[in-house]
Amino acid sequence: MQAEMETAVGACKAAGAFLREGLGRAKNIQHKGEINLVTVMDRECEATIVRIIREAFPDDDILAEEGSTGRRGAPRLWVVDPLDGTTNYAHNYPVFAVSIALLVEGESVLGAVYDPMRDELFTAQKGGGARLGQAPIRVSDTPCVNTSLLGTGFPYDLRQKPRLLLEHFGRFLFKAQALRRDGSAALNLCYVAAGRFDGFWETGIYPWDLAAGALIIQEAGGRVTDYRGRPFDPFSGEILASNGLIHKEMVEILEE
Ligand code: IPD
Ligand code: CA
Ligand code: CA
Repeated sequence: MQAEMETAVGACKAAGAFLREGLGRAKNIQHKGEINLVTVMDRECEATIVRIIREAFPDDDILAEEGSTGRRGAPRLWVVDPLDGTTNYAHNYPVFAVSIALLVEGESVLGAVYDPMRDELFTAQKGGGARLGQAPIRVSDTPCVNTSLLGTGFPYDLRQKPRLLLEHFGRFLFKAQALRRDGSAALNLCYVAAGRFDGFWETGIYPWDLAAGALIIQEAGGRVTDYRGRPFDPFSGEILASNGLIHKEMVEILEE
């Protein structure tokens, strides 16, 4: 998988540099939904990433958020979020990332998430551990929710489908040491992997937000499931991620 990793990292860094340089400039912001934005930067980054992957692996399929690709039933599928944190980006809030995963027969085997503002590259290969740059990373050893720092996100369809969002947020707010919501799910998952967050939950979310970060967490010794603790599926629209130690407690809090 060395060539695949080099391709993923090269594509992340090319798009990341473009995003870093473009932050703060006017950017043709459009609405995909009531509160779901897309900028010309999302589309240009996606075009760059897709071109790099296609050049290296023309037989593979690509699923990218802004829809510039089609699937032909190939066994290998690249899952791409060219800009995770578009709302932040559109407001010049410097928290966003590029996320690329490779799935083989539906299983994530490689993930790369790049934060261009901090020049932090998180990577993992199935069975090969997780890294920040060259250094191996591990989840935290926080033993309980009471002493944990947790992250979450709110989906774009929250006005149409309020779900239990506030209920879950309220429960964790009073049970955790602190909560954060800073608008880049892919980066938040890497923060769980690196031990900066102890857990993360979000529903109404997409495979391009999740596929790379979830593998990076697993390879860093953490756990990813759905809200009920069942096996994780990047296409399920839901994730509960943690250092493993607080996972059962988080499931119980979500189920209360
Ligand atoms: C969004 C961000 C956000 C999360 C949303 C995602 P985008 O991705 O990851 O943190 O709460 O559910 O859709 O649209 O910025 O790529
Ligand atoms: Ca995203
Ligand atoms: Ca995006």
